[in-house]
Amino acid sequence: MPIIVVEDVWKIYRSGRFEYPALKGVSFSVDEGEFVAVVGPSGSGKTTLLNIIGGLDKPTKGTVYVAGVEVPRLSSKELSVFRNRTIGFVFQTFNLVPYLSVVENVELPAAIAGVPRRIRRERALKLLEIVGLGDKAHKRATELSSGEQQRVAIARALMNDPPIILADEPTGNLDVKNTEIVVSLFRRLCDDLGKTIVMVTHNLELIRFCDRVIKLRDGKVIGIEVVRR
Ligand SMILES: Nc1ncnc2c1ncn2[C@@H]1O[C@H](COP(=O)(O)OP(=O)(O)O)[C@@H](O)[C@H]1O
Ligand SMILES: [Mg+2]
Repeated sequence: MPIIVVEDVWKIYRSGRFEYPALKGVSFSVDEGEFVAVVGPSGSGKTTLLNIIGGLDKPTKGTVYVAGVEVPRLSSKELSVFRNRTIGFVFQTFNLVPYLSVVENVELPAAIAGVPRRIRRERALKLLEIVGLGDKAHKRATELSSGEQQRVAIARALMNDPPIILADEPTGNLDVKNTEIVVSLFRRLCDDLGKTIVMVTHNLELIRFCDRVIKLRDGKVIGIEVVRR
């Protein structure tokens, strides 16, 4: 069952009289519980595509359906609800709040959603166990290594229990060892929790952790390969 459907998506950036097509008719779908990599050289449109799936940007033409919702048609109010409940975002930079503790960082999305303190604390601690940081909950976010900070960001992305995680170069700032830890964690989130993950990367070493790889080049899909299953 597809949980993400991308239908003939075009994105044309305009600046003055110039037009730059970043996506030129991209179509594919992602099944529930799949771990998909989107790969391609810098400038091929990966971030633009992920942002359109996540409702952070709108296509110029074409559309996307995510968990049964046609995302580009949502109003800005509906979009914030959609993003809060349906998508967990993970970026290259971890964007943790430096003056908050690790567990407070993880709790943030639930705090914003108005979840009572005790309930969100309990859930945040459970998520920190899942990402292997149960013993770091009360440290300051900035006291952790880069790899640990990214795992905190992943726990935070899971806080509202979204079915989908969208990750844009999540290992871009990590060394080889932490890259493996983070990508194995994504694999586990699919296998054990049934999450659907779309990960943008230009690290081809990571493809072996995924179910399928979608290759982008110059704004077009040039190939889709099954890696495992
Ligand atoms: N806001 C923008 N305005 C104009 N051009 C943009 C904008 N965002 C991205 N682009 C261009 O679109 C192309 C695709 O960008 P991007 O999706 O960031 O690629 P990738 O993530 O694969 O490196 C690039 O050539 C980039 O310069
Ligand atoms: Mg990018």
